Amino acid sequence: MCGSSELANIVLVGFMGAGKTTVGRALARLTGRRFLDLDAWIVRQAGRSIETIFASEGEDFFRRLETEALASLASEKGMVLATGGGIVVRKENWPLLRSLGKVIYLKTRPETLRERLGDGAGRPLARSGSGWEGVAALLEKRLPLYAQADLVVDTDASPPEEVARSIWRQLEEVVQ
Ligand code: S3P
Repeated sequence: MCGSSELANIVLVGFMGAGKTTVGRALARLTGRRFLDLDAWIVRQAGRSIETIFASEGEDFFRRLETEALASLASEKGMVLATGGGIVVRKENWPLLRSLGKVIYLKTRPETLRERLGDGAGRPLARSGSGWEGVAALLEKRLPLYAQADLVVDTDASPPEEVARSIWRQLEEVVQ
């Protein structure tokens, strides 16, 4: 049996509100991996909140931090990594994501996302000027990017633990 530090990583992508953090924690517990949230990692490194980074330096700057954070994890093993919803946007992030491990897209219906996101507190792109229309347009634009993942799992109808079990059922035979 190998220690968690030798296990293959599992990477979760999906729109804001898809449940990457909750499902990620459940999947980490289930598979004996450690959980890492890329946004939380960025916040710790930068010493300020995502909202503050967006407000003071803008989205492009945040995207650079995101790519740097991802690249800095290249030699890590044994993680379930939850990424921010926009990680799929920059082309250069894809080889980094794929070299970390299998990439799982948590797919969620727009109505569910809308409910979960509420007023978008703490998420600059979920409460930008144009209200839900703007958020829905962002989702629409990103769908083909999320579809590049290795595996797609629906999150609408099941609790996080069940989503985690479903991911693991499909991955167990292909990852160690
Ligand atoms: C973003 C999603 C957020 C966070 C930032 C930008 C996005 O993460 O990275 O606010 O562009 O979709 P969550 O998906 O964890 O909310």
